[in-house]
Amino acid sequence: MEVLNGKNIVVGITGSIAAYKAAILVRLLTCEKANVKVIMTPLAKQFITPLTMATLSKNPILVDFFNPENGEWNSHVSLGEWADAYLIAPATANTIGKMAGGIADNLLLTTYLSAKCPVFVSPAMDLDMFAHPTTQNNISRLISYGNHIIEPESGELASGLIGKGRMAEPATIVEYLKKYFSSKFTLEGKKIMVTAGGTIEPIDPVRYISNYSSGKMGIALAEELADRGADVTLIKASTSVPVKNGRIKIVDAVSAEKMYVASVNEFSKTDAAVMCAAVADYTPTAISNSKIKKNENEWSLSLKRTKDIAAELGKMKNNQLLVGFALETNDEETNALKKLKEKNLDFIVLNSLNDEGAGFGHDTNKIKIIYRDGTSVEYPLNTKKNLSKDIADAVERNLLNS
Ligand code: CTP
Repeated sequence: MEVLNGKNIVVGITGSIAAYKAAILVRLLTCEKANVKVIMTPLAKQFITPLTMATLSKNPILVDFFNPENGEWNSHVSLGEWADAYLIAPATANTIGKMAGGIADNLLLTTYLSAKCPVFVSPAMDLDMFAHPTTQNNISRLISYGNHIIEPESGELASGLIGKGRMAEPATIVEYLKKYFSSKFTLEGKKIMVTAGGTIEPIDPVRYISNYSSGKMGIALAEELADRGADVTLIKASTSVPVKNGRIKIVDAVSAEKMYVASVNEFSKTDAAVMCAAVADYTPTAISNSKIKKNENEWSLSLKRTKDIAAELGKMKNNQLLVGFALETNDEETNALKKLKEKNLDFIVLNSLNDEGAGFGHDTNKIKIIYRDGTSVEYPLNTKKNLSKDIADAVERNLLNS
């Protein structure tokens, strides 16, 4: 399907060695029959020539605010209005920082500030620059302004170092745009929070209580919802898999109490909350400041109840969709139904530890979605990635029809 056919795309190129990939990117976009105009920062011209980019894009290259030869004005406003998408690839740490801070000292940046179209940013930099909290904060800010970050890849970098920071491959970027324009962004404008992972309840500086949750299901679901254009906040306890989608805002909340505070804080801002986390029901009554020493006697640990986050949100709920999970070992359906009612959920996703390949740590799962009216839909054993699409479909149906 030629979803990019006739789309007006402004490609912004900044001064990174990855600028050579922009040539292939522009070529791929024109092969998809998109109309491409290229803006380069002054430094970008040192990495790839305007002649190359002009030839490939079939349009003159824009660098300066005006043409020094004839004084013709390069209007960032009309460029921003012309574009159906503004794609900044490669985006250096410097440009990302300026975008986050509202600095507009070149045509690429003024066009960013006047663009009314969706903006896609494909970072390219060394691993340490990418990992630096400043860069990460700037990227979070860009996401919070509604920009789409196309995650850089891991691998060998121009510096010879190996790590995350390499600009996504041109084909991956084109796929991202195609996905966007194939109107799969059905959840655009919706704010969704997802809790994931197993909480950690400290006993003393070296010990804790936790569970086997890997966070795989919750993260897969957060990524699927973000892929559909939702503005996703992931409230994350301990997990064993990375979050790949750069559009997801991550809030670290390792203990049940921290997850409670983060969830309550987020809930009023959301349209839906999906509670995937395995939250400890009990936490030590007191945390010892120093390592607890053994002796010859038996030892028992005093525990107190944690707050039931899903149930609290169920009480706070206005129009939000509230989705829970239930992992059971026996009387599965009865227990799940009880949780659905007691926590005031709209639907609950049941998985049983008795099913082969389902539950903690597996890449696969087998689920049943039970609704408030008692109806249910069973889904056969599948990858968590694929099941996240089924759950996202259920979220979408309930959210968009409410
Ligand atoms: N949940 C929560 N906060 C808790 C406990 C559970 O938000 N303190 C949420 C889970 O994220 C899940 C649902 O409630 O969406 C059910 O969790 P589960 O652990 O299966 O049930 P519990 O209510 O803890 O009941 P039990 O452990 O007795 O089965």
